[in-house]
Amino acid sequence: MRHHPVEKATKEVVFQPMGRRMRFEQDDTILELARKAGVALVATCGGKGLCGKCRVSSSALSTPPSDQELELLGPISHSGERLACQTRLPEGGTVFVSEESRLRQQVILTAGQQIELQLDPILQVQDLIITLPSLITPLTMSELLLEALGGAESFSLPLSVLQTLPGALKDNSGQVTVVTRPGGEVIDVVPGWGRQYLGLAVDLGTTTVVAYLLDLTTGKVLAVEADVNPQISVGDDVISRIAYCQDKPDGLQQLASQIRECINRLAQQACEAAGLDMSRIMDCVMVGNTAMHHIFLGLDPVVLSQAPYTPIVKSSIELKARQVGLTFATEALLHWLPVKAGFVGADTVAVALAVAADQLTAPTLILDLGTNGEMILAGVGDMVCCSTAAGPAFEGGHISFGMRAAQGAIEKVVLDPLSLEAELTVIGEVKPLGLCGSGLLSLVSALVTAGAILPGGSFNSTMTSARLRSGSEGMEYVIAFAEQSGLGHDLVLTSRDVAEIQLAKGAIRAGVEIMMLELGVKNLGEVLLAGAFGNYLDPKDAENLGLFPCPDQERIRGVGNAAGAGAIMALISHWVRDHAKIMTHNIRYIELTTHPQFHDFFIDGMACTRWQPSRA
Ligand code: FES
Repeated sequence: MRHHPVEKATKEVVFQPMGRRMRFEQDDTILELARKAGVALVATCGGKGLCGKCRVSSSALSTPPSDQELELLGPISHSGERLACQTRLPEGGTVFVSEESRLRQQVILTAGQQIELQLDPILQVQDLIITLPSLITPLTMSELLLEALGGAESFSLPLSVLQTLPGALKDNSGQVTVVTRPGGEVIDVVPGWGRQYLGLAVDLGTTTVVAYLLDLTTGKVLAVEADVNPQISVGDDVISRIAYCQDKPDGLQQLASQIRECINRLAQQACEAAGLDMSRIMDCVMVGNTAMHHIFLGLDPVVLSQAPYTPIVKSSIELKARQVGLTFATEALLHWLPVKAGFVGADTVAVALAVAADQLTAPTLILDLGTNGEMILAGVGDMVCCSTAAGPAFEGGHISFGMRAAQGAIEKVVLDPLSLEAELTVIGEVKPLGLCGSGLLSLVSALVTAGAILPGGSFNSTMTSARLRSGSEGMEYVIAFAEQSGLGHDLVLTSRDVAEIQLAKGAIRAGVEIMMLELGVKNLGEVLLAGAFGNYLDPKDAENLGLFPCPDQERIRGVGNAAGAGAIMALISHWVRDHAKIMTHNIRYIELTTHPQFHDFFIDGMACTRWQPSRA
């Protein structure tokens, strides 16, 4: 019997307006096709059909939208819009990605507070003269090198160093620079003296990745590169990433590869910017939340989403960078700072290092607000920390017109308290496309001050304004009418959006109150805000909404990307790495979900009022 080769029916999809083409065979959703084609789409819920953010249109669709899809698309949907994660292209065709669903280049915060440090890198660099083997001294090259280092017993030579040793010794008549690590391994030998050695500090965030290239011989930052975490295509928050690892057989491997490639790319870009070779990177320090830590290292993060939410490992990790696919020097080292708990990661430890949390002398709240709100209370002898599932509202997630801090995002709102007419500050000075976290709080704060949002969180129906109206989900505020917005339709803040902010705020308030209660703190001396949101947040808005008990506005300070600063400190200082272990041990973790007063604090904290001591 003759077998006919089975012809694979390849179809083509074209994503517009990017003009990206791809052939495909499988019956993937449009969102999955976009991921494979490298088209960056907003997919806040990771493709679960819950957020309504992945909007596309196509004339090549034959099936009608489901009820769930219609509900999510809502009245603001335009003709033919569909959800990319719920729709397939049976025959291929052209897909137009809606304006608001295109992932834009984000404004990434790279600068951070850092304390003065003495340069004390973990690697030892020595300029040596090695006698070359001869008939008079018939020792091997490795023996001569170890002898010059002061003793064969205390040092070891990996194969890669032995392989390059002859060239290194002969090139400069035995004048070499030798790099060794604590414990006595020689990790590099290069010809000549005074060679420059590089280090990379990486802040691996759920949303963004920042890489700092440093000269380890001077401690200077040579270049900084940043990008959006490519894992964002499977969802905005750590829970979506963990779910992806759980649901897909090779999900963990995929996400680990994505982020490792991203870090290699950022390192390459930073080296190019500095005019240096990536093979000179000898040491790397990484920080990030516990889920990012686990995924990067290829550790199953599913344990973090199941009680008792314990990480696989908490202590610091030291390994060769090549073991996790980083293409630096062959023997380059990689160090992860310790993590504290399932949702308090090495980034929080790095923030604590950067602000010298254990040296503070007044009660100080240190807040890193993102998808999770990680916080530390210090300055009273003891230190405590916790993490609240604030949700992605402060990063624009789960908000009808929320977006990240990219071009087109409203970052500040000034309202006329009577007419409620708005003056908007928009990133990039273009027509507004949505609200980023700081813009969202600014708007809600202004509406609360004007009395348009009542303490319970509902819109004030007795107020008269052309911008307050009844919408499909109850009352809503029109931020920009169609002709003023960059979307071609009205941009609104709905009652549901206000409720999302209340939930996030309630979670943070509960965390702050429980930490204050645990340490017997009645008033705060200072509030330090780490991360992008904290940096752009107007203290006045935080005070209006009672996010935390503000001492006075001058004592609320943004400390920038303190996690990145902490990673830099650990890269250039051996002492900081050791101190990170002590700091992590000395901060006591509080599990909020099992705290007896969490529920009451949370409910009280949802009120849209200034800080008042809770009834709980
Ligand atoms: S609804 Fe499609 S990604 Fe959320």
